[in-house]
Amino acid sequence: MKNIDSYSHLRGESIYLDDVPLVAGTLFAVAFGSPHAHGKILNLDLGEAEKMPGVVRIFTSKDVPGENQIGGIVPDEPLLANHNVHFQGMPVALVVAESVEEARNAIKKIKIDIDPLPIITDPREARAKGELIVPPRTFRIGDVDSTWSQCAHIVEGMAETNGQEHLYIETQGAYTFPLENGSIRIISSTQGPTAVQRHAAIVLGIPMHMLEVDVTRLGGGFGGKEDQASMWAILCALATYHLKKPVKYALDRMEDMRMTGKRNPYSSDFKIGLDKDLKIIAFETTYHQNAGAAADLSPAVLERTLFHSTNTYFVPNVKATAYSCRTNLPPNTAFRGFGGPQGMFVIEAAIDKAAKHIGVQAWEIQKKNLIQTGDEFPFGQKADSEATECWETAEHVYQPDQIQIRIEKFNAENILFKKGMAFMPICFGISFTKTPMNQARALVHVYTDGSIGISTGAVEMGQGVNTKMLQVAAKIFSVETHRIKIYSTNTFRIANTSPSAASATADLNGKAVEIACEAILGRLKDLVAEKFSVSPSEVWIENEQVMAKGKSLDYKWIQLIQDGYLKRIGLSEHGHYAPPGLHYDAKIEKGHPFAYHVFGTAITEVTVDCLRGTYEVDAVKIVHDFGTSTNVPIDRGQIEGGLVQRIGWMTLEEIVYDENGRLRSNALSTYKVPDIYSVPKEIDIHFLETKKENMAILKSKAVGEPPLMYGIGTYFALRNAIAAYRPDAEMTYATPMTPERVLMGLYGKKKMVEA
Ligand code: MTE
Ligand code: HPA
Ligand code: MOS
Repeated sequence: MKNIDSYSHLRGESIYLDDVPLVAGTLFAVAFGSPHAHGKILNLDLGEAEKMPGVVRIFTSKDVPGENQIGGIVPDEPLLANHNVHFQGMPVALVVAESVEEARNAIKKIKIDIDPLPIITDPREARAKGELIVPPRTFRIGDVDSTWSQCAHIVEGMAETNGQEHLYIETQGAYTFPLENGSIRIISSTQGPTAVQRHAAIVLGIPMHMLEVDVTRLGGGFGGKEDQASMWAILCALATYHLKKPVKYALDRMEDMRMTGKRNPYSSDFKIGLDKDLKIIAFETTYHQNAGAAADLSPAVLERTLFHSTNTYFVPNVKATAYSCRTNLPPNTAFRGFGGPQGMFVIEAAIDKAAKHIGVQAWEIQKKNLIQTGDEFPFGQKADSEATECWETAEHVYQPDQIQIRIEKFNAENILFKKGMAFMPICFGISFTKTPMNQARALVHVYTDGSIGISTGAVEMGQGVNTKMLQVAAKIFSVETHRIKIYSTNTFRIANTSPSAASATADLNGKAVEIACEAILGRLKDLVAEKFSVSPSEVWIENEQVMAKGKSLDYKWIQLIQDGYLKRIGLSEHGHYAPPGLHYDAKIEKGHPFAYHVFGTAITEVTVDCLRGTYEVDAVKIVHDFGTSTNVPIDRGQIEGGLVQRIGWMTLEEIVYDENGRLRSNALSTYKVPDIYSVPKEIDIHFLETKKENMAILKSKAVGEPPLMYGIGTYFALRNAIAAYRPDAEMTYATPMTPERVLMGLYGKKKMVEA
């Protein structure tokens, strides 16, 4: 079925934060961010700003009635800076005025005097100086140290992945309203309504039950609004708390880019050892995560990096250590893949380097080492693997041998254009790595006219989760889809929601919907059984007709519901779901953290213009393990979107902070994102339908994040094309592979230093 939002999206009628009609008396907030990346605040002079036209009030940390703290995992992030500033753009004051323009004009009149402190932007430097967010963590299996001596090939190196701006189309923002007796309604563009509610309660010093957070949909989140939406929502709530007026703040694009964190960049070391049959028998790696100035979600991101350190390969001896390093950049955060892609890049770089060293194709090593069912991941979980099935299906469907022959012929015939191919097999664990977060709730109402209203903890951010929730209810009740409406996500209706993240939103909330609908249906079946003197187990509904014993009872859904009401049957239900079997012990770094893994294989083909350093992605051919897709067009959109998002990260998107911690790539003129020309000329998706009983809804598998990882293939295909022009090209494993980097690979005189 079509995405239920497609009609209103197409007509521009869908409501986002900025479309909410303004209430009379609304005031507008703008944050004043620190102009320095690190230092002690000596003086903050608001005098002139306060006198500016339209200014109602300027808030600082002194106005926080509760705790000045919004840190989610570690309490290290003030809402408003009090003594020190830790990154450029860190909110120090909040101007509230009668118009946005007046608020912005007043911002310019704020004077701040800062005694500078040393600025760190590099994670390795931070580690050397002991600036760690949390203690380092190590995952181990087997014994790497004693294995090196058995290796036929050992390769060492470094791999670096850049940050990435989320660039959700809708920027961060919130709109808050005073309710009676001090309660506050918060409309927030957040993936985590409960995170907003919980932290607003801490900051305002009031109970969570006084805070109604409501989310209709987001114009994209991609992880950037899992935790980082809270700041703006709570700033508005603080102003509403004091002024008893509606307050709105929608960040402009440059503010958003400057003040919010991004994907965590990583700088990593690796050492890989293979036996003579190309089996990877040892892998050792150290990750340096650039966390930015506060923990935010970085410790959880770091954990997922470790969970994905061996991607889709079985390696019997692994030691992976990860450092979360504090720097003076905006706190970095969740971004599609949540550290997994950063970890997977490192082992792919190691394999690529080993292949070049040995003189084989990387895919020979990849294929030999695919994880099999029963193999153990370094964290103790046993794989239920589809890796080989995906790979072999890709070989069967796409004939990569033929592609490679075609590429070699092309490369032999062309001097200035070279093609390259790469395989990218993926394996992504589904579940929040923090086990307690794997729970969800749904509230289902059936109204007396037979229509159905559903609330869940799921936030619609373009990934189509509302459509999937509707499909679940429509299937269980067997009613037409127009009868069902999915309501906004609201903390007064659904409590204690986990953020919509970890690709698990449809799984968790879908199950909760299923449980609630089944409970109502059970009561309705009892009624039918009594009325028609049959057994409840013989009753079912098919296309709105009530059936029993194999035939229609000539009794329709609407009649059933009306009778249900008259018989005083509960037509509402609250469903709760928590997937069983998940556990993890961080002390020993072993457990079963994931409900299941998603597998897939992509084959990427690129062409490099060896005169200009520019390139095109000719084709990405994917076999993806969907389980049984609940919604093919939506899932296809997730694959295509994820793929292109990662191609952007791997090739174009270059975040530049200068040594003062100032963001230089602060607008779309200096930060290049993929456009239609970056999209592969061909994207082919083969649906691998696996019908396993897993813990996902309707036997589907989660699809939100895994396809992002296919984009890694583009990076390695480009390297292979460069090597076809210049076999002795020496390039570091650093991203993004911009045309400048390609040129340096093609023509650089000596080993390429950091671009
Ligand atoms: N797709 C769209 N269109 N917009 C988004 O913001 N976020 C991604 C992915 N796909 C996102 C998206 C991320 S980071 C996650 S975790 C999942 O969707 C979240 O939704 P799901 O759990 O329903 O897959
Ligand atoms: N994925 C995404 N978001 C999260 C996770 C995770 O594993 N844990 C906490 N937030
Ligand atoms: Mo996605 S990074 O888990 O919001």
